[in-house]
Amino acid sequence: MKKRFIGRLEYFGSLLFDLERKEYIPFDKDATSILFNISNFKDIDEIYYRYFSNKFNYLSYKSFIQLAQYLGIINDDYSLNVEFLVNEELELLNEYKILSAPLKVYFALTYSCPLRCKHCFSNSGDIEDSLKKNELSFEKIKEILKELKELGVYYISFGGGEPFDKDNFIQILKYSNDLNLVVFISTSLITFDKYYQEIIDNNIKIKEFKISIDAVSSRDYLNIKGRSYFDKLKNNLKLLKMYKEFNNEVSIRFHFVLNKLNYNDLPAFLNFAEQYEADKLSFSPIFITGRATKDLALSNEILKKIDTVINNMKERTRIEIEFFNVPLEVGKTGLYTGFGCGCGKTVCYISPYGDVLPSGMFINYKEKFSYGNLKNSSFKQIWLNTYLKEINNISEYDTRCKECEYFDNCRGGCRFRSFNEFNSLIYKDPTCYIKK
Ligand SMILES: C[S@@+](CC[C@H](N)C(=O)[O-])C[C@H]1O[C@@H](n2cnc3c(N)ncnc32)[C@H](O)[C@@H]1O
Ligand code: SF4
Ligand code: SF4
Repeated sequence: MKKRFIGRLEYFGSLLFDLERKEYIPFDKDATSILFNISNFKDIDEIYYRYFSNKFNYLSYKSFIQLAQYLGIINDDYSLNVEFLVNEELELLNEYKILSAPLKVYFALTYSCPLRCKHCFSNSGDIEDSLKKNELSFEKIKEILKELKELGVYYISFGGGEPFDKDNFIQILKYSNDLNLVVFISTSLITFDKYYQEIIDNNIKIKEFKISIDAVSSRDYLNIKGRSYFDKLKNNLKLLKMYKEFNNEVSIRFHFVLNKLNYNDLPAFLNFAEQYEADKLSFSPIFITGRATKDLALSNEILKKIDTVINNMKERTRIEIEFFNVPLEVGKTGLYTGFGCGCGKTVCYISPYGDVLPSGMFINYKEKFSYGNLKNSSFKQIWLNTYLKEINNISEYDTRCKECEYFDNCRGGCRFRSFNEFNSLIYKDPTCYIKK
């Protein structure tokens, strides 16, 4: 019988992906060992007295079993509802504390885009046929998706450029659905109307549409995004609402890249999101790379003010709001416990030409940061060598972060920002205003 959970053995224990709830659940080594033993013996008392009685008391052991039953990981008859993937590289993963594969892959499919955003990090727009030939083919993309699934990577976020501009995009979505992958799309939505019917006809299921909005008037849209498509955006947002009737599990996220030209419009952004019934609203400060020029950057004083405005907005709306900025909350700890953000450790980016990078922001420094290219290596080969790169090996780092109460969660923030500003990966995220 098909199991509900897919298990990956990891240096810290294991990671289970729940195919029903579509989420990962991490377990430490002891918990993983209990699960493994349950697959051999169904007598849970025997397992306890054989392996765990010298480690923890019976009550905590039983509570864990009950929790696992409640989550559906262990069935009522104590059989295991998990299919563990084979992992022959555990020794290497343990030594370098790397995951067997990322949790989420940002897959940029093309540099083609109908817009010309002033801030676009990937310089997307029209592409010449000679360059288009370098982009990964439909067959290669399918091969990569299949490999990712086999490695237990279930979150795939398609972007670009404009992913809807990629030939066969609907077939790529269909293939991802067939593989049971959880699909996120990052799009301007400008050409969505062309594909809407095909999406419905093929019963395509998307977990999240992240729509880059950036401006909420025709004049500002043209100024920031370089084309007069604001009315088109509004029409396509109506179509997206129809898609939601077809797939009520989809989440609609409006995204704004904040820069000098638009940061004063935050209240209008919230009104717009409410008017179009977005589920989520997210903001990220502009990264100065690609087409983004320094005059668009936001100072730390402005970022601090934005933080206050966003916190006030959170109190007066039902929409979930996120601001991708440091500091994060005190007291939380993520899966990655080294220095810096999770880019290259829990997530990574695949460029339209097949380069694997810690994140898309590094695309303009790919000679230094590319882990490898999927045209001549498998994803697994590339990922297992990530530990060789400096960004995955930062041991001596900013003393300000070492002393900081936010460190457990923040870990020093974005590595791209440190590199972009100081030409070094060891400094705290320069947008952090907590420590001078
Ligand atoms: C390059 S776009 C590709 C997908 C699609 N065309 C879009 O705009 O959503 C991927 C994401 O990066 C964001 N982005 C682009 N340039 C950026 C920059 N310089 N700083 C921060 N985010 C940026 C966009 O807003 C979008 O959410
Ligand atoms: S940010 Fe997205 S919509 Fe804007 S030019 Fe770049 S790829 Fe196109
Ligand atoms: S000092 Fe470092 S750890 Fe603390 S909030 Fe700033 S970037 Fe994060």
